[in-house]
Amino acid sequence: MKAVLLGLLLAAVFAIAVGELLQSTKEESRWWYAPSRKAPLYEHKYQGLRERLVRAAAAQTVNMRLPRDVLPSSYTIRLLPFIEEGNFTTDGYIEILIDCKTATSNISMNAAELDIMQESIQVVDNADNTQRDVEKFYDEQNPREIITINLKTPLVVGSTYKISMKFISYLNEDLRGFYRSTYVENNVTKYLAVSQMEAPDARRAFPCFDEPNMKANFTITVGRKTSMSAISNMPLRSEEPISNMPGYVWNHFKPSVKMSSYLVAMMVSEFVSELSNPSLSPDVEFKIWARPSFRNQTKYSADIGPRILNEYVTKYFQIEFPLPKVDMAAIPDFAAGAMENWGLITYRETDLLYDERRSSASAKQRVAIIIAHELAHQWFGNLVTMDWWNVIWLNEGFASYMEYPGTDYVEPGFEMNEQFTVTDLHYVFGIDALETSRPIDFEVNTPSQINQMFDAISYEKGSCIIRMCANFLGEPVFRRGVTSYLNKNAYGNTVQKDLWDALNTQAVNENVQLPATVETIMETWTKQMGYPVINISRLYDSANSAVASQQRFLLMKNENSSDKNDYSWWVPLTYTKDFTDIRKHWMPSGSGANTIQSLPGSSANWVIFNVGQEGYYRVVYDERNIEMIRNQLMTNHLAISKKNRAQILDDYLNMARANLTTYVTAMELTRYLAHERDYAPWTAASVALDYIDIMFYGYPDEQEWKNYMTVLVTALYDHVKYEASNSDAHLTVFTRSQAVSWACGRLNVINCITKANRDYQAWMTDATKELQPNLRRLISCTAIAEGGRPEWEFGFNRYLDSTLANEKTELLRAITCSLDVGILNEMLNRMITPSSGIRLQDANTLFSNIAANPVGHGVALDFLINRWDDVVAYFGNYEGFGGDAITRLFRALCNRVNNDEKLEKLTKLSTDHSSSFNSASARQGLELAQTNVRWVKKHYGTIVNWLKSQNSATEGTTVTSLASTTTPSTVATTPSSAARAFVNHFFILMAAIATFTGF
Ligand code: BES
Ligand code: ZN
Repeated sequence: MKAVLLGLLLAAVFAIAVGELLQSTKEESRWWYAPSRKAPLYEHKYQGLRERLVRAAAAQTVNMRLPRDVLPSSYTIRLLPFIEEGNFTTDGYIEILIDCKTATSNISMNAAELDIMQESIQVVDNADNTQRDVEKFYDEQNPREIITINLKTPLVVGSTYKISMKFISYLNEDLRGFYRSTYVENNVTKYLAVSQMEAPDARRAFPCFDEPNMKANFTITVGRKTSMSAISNMPLRSEEPISNMPGYVWNHFKPSVKMSSYLVAMMVSEFVSELSNPSLSPDVEFKIWARPSFRNQTKYSADIGPRILNEYVTKYFQIEFPLPKVDMAAIPDFAAGAMENWGLITYRETDLLYDERRSSASAKQRVAIIIAHELAHQWFGNLVTMDWWNVIWLNEGFASYMEYPGTDYVEPGFEMNEQFTVTDLHYVFGIDALETSRPIDFEVNTPSQINQMFDAISYEKGSCIIRMCANFLGEPVFRRGVTSYLNKNAYGNTVQKDLWDALNTQAVNENVQLPATVETIMETWTKQMGYPVINISRLYDSANSAVASQQRFLLMKNENSSDKNDYSWWVPLTYTKDFTDIRKHWMPSGSGANTIQSLPGSSANWVIFNVGQEGYYRVVYDERNIEMIRNQLMTNHLAISKKNRAQILDDYLNMARANLTTYVTAMELTRYLAHERDYAPWTAASVALDYIDIMFYGYPDEQEWKNYMTVLVTALYDHVKYEASNSDAHLTVFTRSQAVSWACGRLNVINCITKANRDYQAWMTDATKELQPNLRRLISCTAIAEGGRPEWEFGFNRYLDSTLANEKTELLRAITCSLDVGILNEMLNRMITPSSGIRLQDANTLFSNIAANPVGHGVALDFLINRWDDVVAYFGNYEGFGGDAITRLFRALCNRVNNDEKLEKLTKLSTDHSSSFNSASARQGLELAQTNVRWVKKHYGTIVNWLKSQNSATEGTTVTSLASTTTPSTVATTPSSAARAFVNHFFILMAAIATFTGF
């Protein structure tokens, strides 16, 4: 024992002596790194980029909406895809029944990139079957994507007409409309055809009235080879051979319920399906579809899918599911994470498939969350749909809210309730604190603007304000209000007022006391961007009162801001002295300072506001109160709830950034983390401290920071340990990942790095020695960062070959941890090379993870600057989830900018290509980068001074306390790689001796 410790000490001393700064922060970036939900990409080669940009800019002022002279009531769609190399086209035929509302000679509808056979167009009066003569036909492609059939004589109000036409479309690789996806099975490349219509992409599959409030019934027929199968929203009605085409059949599906065009779906593939146990789903047949070799990964979703649908969501809404079946399919190439098409829900493979033995706990949770989200949409979104895309948050915010209770129902052990604030609330607080944020309710017109709406504001802010609303109404009242809203608007469309009114009526009926209508309260949260910080000043008088006031929380105040709005909100304040006695106070919008009389307890105890962080606001206290809170944390932190510990850390570390408190106050609060063992507070701290970690990168006193963090993290690491135990709770598994991510990834804790290297080497030499699933990504990341080409190559090949959907994503992220500039460049090159094994859908994950790697950041920035034309040529101008591909790449580069040189490069990049970067997301990224550089100038010195006083106070204790633990983790030293190699080898040697001597 002594020999080992001595060895460790010597090694550490040696490393300190070498002391060269080589950062090895392997940032654990999240897949949703950019503010858009996911980072999916579209390939779009239809037009040159320049032309598209010019047109897109012009489109901002063009009215893109369809006239409402005629409205569709039903569609009959027939698609025959040729899923073969050398062809990849779809023969299409469509009949649309329309009702004439205003006399007009023009019928306008949407179509994009469809080859419409003009001579096939017919317009027939449904009453007498007489044909109307077509005078002219207009096909306006981008930006309007509208075709117009001009008739010789006008249509008659009140009459119904049948429009029909033939068209050909191309089964593209753009992951939008009716597209193709591929996979390899037994060395044979297989293709499938599948659809993705949201946001406005149904128009790419067939001509249609592609606006969410033009609902209709869809009767779909799909042709297929007999070797394949076809599925759609509705069950099969009948099947017949296609005349003159041996080996092909038509599948006729039953007519759909009334729905929006963006929910239409079909898939033609050689997939196999797993039928859920009918006892879980007596009235709704539930099937999971996947490529045949992935069949063994469908059990989990086949189990939880029907349970969430029947036992949770149906009961929650108190409305039966209207369709007889649900299919859920795992698609190899898929732009988003999942899509809620009514009756045929599509997913990325990693978001639906799960292997009980080999997948990680976080993969499992992700599958459950996504299923819950998409199933919630079957009501909130599909049955009742937003009137227009400006309120897409109604869909996405509510479905995001339901992810938590829906998952909790099937997996109570996941403690979803402990996770909400740290994953949703704290995340969006970071974005909504920028001047370049946007209100939830936001006017949009063009497809590109519509796609940008799928961002953190719609999803996470949406879910947060719904949670706040449910909370102040009371969950049961809220739920009954939602049911009445859904019943009232079933098969229709709504604006947000419809929801507020239904909730308000419910509140009135159930005698819930509110200070204003639900609409008045909630509109302050949806019509204004941002959120308040509540300043609590206790008076410590005999009445034990406090004064509360609000102001908008901004990370960086721009003195020249043109925004002169007077931001103010209706704030449901809650507060407590002990988490049992919880009190409320409504702070009206525009009310100035509020006095809160008689706080609970006396002036000698702390009071905490925003209990459980149910409200969408931050809180800053007077010094005496925060000092009492800090003392409580230091003496017995368990007296404060986990969620509020997380809140206090996130609030204070961010308020210090915004100059609402000092870094000394904020950092003093972090000291208690040496005793913290819980997931939520550690996650909050991790994210906020990671910011400092990134900002300190490359500056002279970085080591002071690392030393302080090592003290905090080692305590946690030694508690959760590197090794998994069968009895680990779900959140313990997550907490271990936090600890390992810091210990191995950012702090070079030798104990961690040695074990990771050991395990990875074992896997490299013997494929049966797989890594523990829950640390697979972090272990691979560490070993690849530490190692050379062989380690990276092994990881890359495993990534290419993996037949486990979740493992593939984990390894994709792990290979970006290399610190070798040559390797990093090679990966970026592969990213823009077709058939390199990196799918288009994964390009953003690859790029943003490289950009989050300290060495990779500069490499990625230079790559985008130097290879601009190639990158643009490869991606084209995608317009997809949360914006276009190029913006997402740019956005991923902003977070790690921490010096003038990088800021200049980034700014130049954005001005050189200003037409590519005019979205909110790009502007937010640039604002964040500017904030970072200002941060370093303002706060770096203060923190260094605090760290120095702190580290000298604990000097000696670090090593002593480490030495007294049974599995010493050794101090971090940030040595050069040579030094680290020495330290590591030394350690391995000592460990070997220990093993050998039976110690
Ligand atoms: N409706 C969306 C998918 C979508 C997003 C379509 C953007 C078109 C544009 C779906 O319900 C969704 O939100 N998917 C999420 C997964 C979810 C768990 C947050 C996604 O794809 O990330
Ligand atoms: Zn959604």
